[in-house]
Amino acid sequence: MDISGHTRVVCIIADPIGHVKTPEHMNGFFRDHGIDAVVVPAHVAPQDLAAVLQGLRRIHSLAGLIVTVPHKIDILALCDHHEESARIAGATNVVRRTPEGLWVAANFDGMGFVQSLVDRVGPIQGKSVYMAGAGGVARAIAFSLADAGISRLAIHNRSEAKAAELARAVQRQYPGVAAGTTGTHPTDFDIALNATTVGLKPGDAEPFFIDGLRSDCLVADVIMQPLMTPLLAAARKRGLRICMGDGMLKHQLRAFAEFLGFTVTDGALAGAADGVIR
Ligand SMILES: NC(=O)c1ccc[n+]([C@@H]2O[C@H](COP(=O)([O-])OP(=O)(O)OC[C@H]3O[C@@H](n4cnc5c(N)ncnc54)[C@H](OP(=O)(O)O)[C@@H]3O)[C@@H](O)[C@H]2O)c1
Repeated sequence: MDISGHTRVVCIIADPIGHVKTPEHMNGFFRDHGIDAVVVPAHVAPQDLAAVLQGLRRIHSLAGLIVTVPHKIDILALCDHHEESARIAGATNVVRRTPEGLWVAANFDGMGFVQSLVDRVGPIQGKSVYMAGAGGVARAIAFSLADAGISRLAIHNRSEAKAAELARAVQRQYPGVAAGTTGTHPTDFDIALNATTVGLKPGDAEPFFIDGLRSDCLVADVIMQPLMTPLLAAARKRGLRICMGDGMLKHQLRAFAEFLGFTVTDGALAGAADGVIR
């Protein structure tokens, strides 16, 4: 698609910005669906977030923002309306600008992750899940897993209090899910996942130990850069099934586009999962 005076603009805001993969994927989605819009990267430091949002309210051709680390939680306080997905998760990954210049926050991280899991293992009702992390993405995933009907969620986080708080929140909202905290040596789980940032940087250690996991356990990671994280490489070496982070994003592209006000006319996700879930 050529950019013209009619093109709607979506900014992805992050700090740092160089590692983000959403522009390539979202622009490909817009192109494939004939949508006259473009995603551009915007490197925004935390201390500038409020000023940036205030200024961007005035850009009428701006459809909204895709939001990633480290802004997902702090930006909520700067938004005017919160959809349930953002309110429950306490974090947002996409913000729509209304014609009046208001910001509406939503969150599709959890939906995207659960869909990528379902692609791999089928319905996850009744499954037991180990999750490392209690940040913005982990929160969204925890509630979506619970909503999908898992039976047990064990959370490990470097800051233990955050894991405990998340487990309590999930248990309160979904009394049917046995949610609690745990350590770094998971054993008896159907699914074990990394929802931390550990694995992003070269030389990062594995966020948890896979040695004790059952041989039928699936190991998943949310990290997109690199796709084959040290955790997934170790799991594959052990012969476990793995699920990489790109499926989670692919499943969110249509949701982002529709939430930002674009009409998506065909079964856009029909081929999206091909080759991205392993
Ligand atoms: N695949 C996708 O579509 C997709 C989409 C969005 C994001 N992501 C990925 O999701 C990941 C998490 O993002 P987020 O927004 O949740 O970040 P966040 O809110 O900053 O949370 C970071 C999490 O990582 C933990 N952590 C950070 N450094 C650690 C360390 N050295 N050792 C142990 N734990 C550590 C934090 O623990 P504390 O609470 O102790 O700080 C926290 O649980 C990122 O890697 C991002 O790339 C993937």
